[in-house]
Amino acid sequence: MLLFREKVPAEWLPKVLANLPAVLVDHAHLERKAATSALNLEKYRDLYSRVEELNAIAIEELQHFQLVLNLLKHRGIPFGQPYPSPWIAGLMKSVRHGVKQQAIDHLVACSLIEGRSCEKFQFLASELKTIDAELSTFYASLVESEGNHYATYLLMARSIDDAETDRRLDFYLDLDAKLIREPNPLPILH
Ligand SMILES: [Fe+2]
Ligand SMILES: [Fe+2]
Repeated sequence: MLLFREKVPAEWLPKVLANLPAVLVDHAHLERKAATSALNLEKYRDLYSRVEELNAIAIEELQHFQLVLNLLKHRGIPFGQPYPSPWIAGLMKSVRHGVKQQAIDHLVACSLIEGRSCEKFQFLASELKTIDAELSTFYASLVESEGNHYATYLLMARSIDDAETDRRLDFYLDLDAKLIREPNPLPILH
């Protein structure tokens, strides 16, 4: 179950639907960044024992990346530069330094990014049904995987320190609620 305290703003869906080619390019980068995030988490001492699970997530994200690239190719959309996401940057900027806390912060931030992807992919799967059946099916096929990543990262943080994870989750849910309300006209998923 997703724990978010703020709804995705009403402007998000029409913006995405009006800019699908650019959003697909952004989505490709999102999956690429999700793969590197899973690998980056392997640097933490507290996660050395989870390295194979993290590799499995990285491989899955890389497969998602390839699937989006295939869609781009079939649709004649050129792969291009990513836009920066103020929402993702805002979450990542709040990762504190200091080994244990940093791993928990990093995991919680990644968990919320996966959770918002899961939520937004669900919206897209449903909204695109009558507009673009292929894309609707594609987004529906990613929902479970991103939801699992959300839960896995949160459980990994809890396995390091349950109480600290609760404290940081509380902080990050408030931060997400604040950042997601910021207007953003860019054709990006987050
Ligand atoms: Fe993914
Ligand atoms: Fe994911």
